[in-house]
Amino acid sequence: MKILVINGPNLNMLGIREPGIYGSETYATLLDKISAHAKKRGVSVDFFQSNHEGALVDRIQEAFGSTDGIVINPGAYTHTSIALLDALKAVAIPAVEVHISDVSKREAFRSVSYIRDACIGSVIGHGTDGYLEAVDMLIERGGEK
Ligand code: DQA
Repeated sequence: MKILVINGPNLNMLGIREPGIYGSETYATLLDKISAHAKKRGVSVDFFQSNHEGALVDRIQEAFGSTDGIVINPGAYTHTSIALLDALKAVAIPAVEVHISDVSKREAFRSVSYIRDACIGSVIGHGTDGYLEAVDMLIERGGEK
């Protein structure tokens, strides 16, 4: 099973940005943690991060035909991007939405998620462990390979 982990804008700043909200773990450490979990679960994992909406759409489209599941934290584009919703619907790859912080308990605009409709599940407010839970959700749905 091949899983693609996509992170949107400012998630490359993990460890630096608002540590009281997002924690002190860096983006590089997050990738190591997901890689170790994927190895333990016997699945392969690819990573993509961009601060640009179109680049995220391009990467989702590229995944068509070569990826079994997508873990996606679109950052602020969660709350604005119909293009990401449409891209996820277009490729129809099982996707799980992740948010490090509990977006339901922050500003009202963060409670809106355009992509949620295209996802089989969401993991919200579990810190970076949420990415591992999302990987597990995809494995449970798709079977370990
Ligand atoms: C986030 C929450 C978003 O509202 C915010 O814009 C982010 C990160 C999270 O992981 O908690 O960039 O997606």
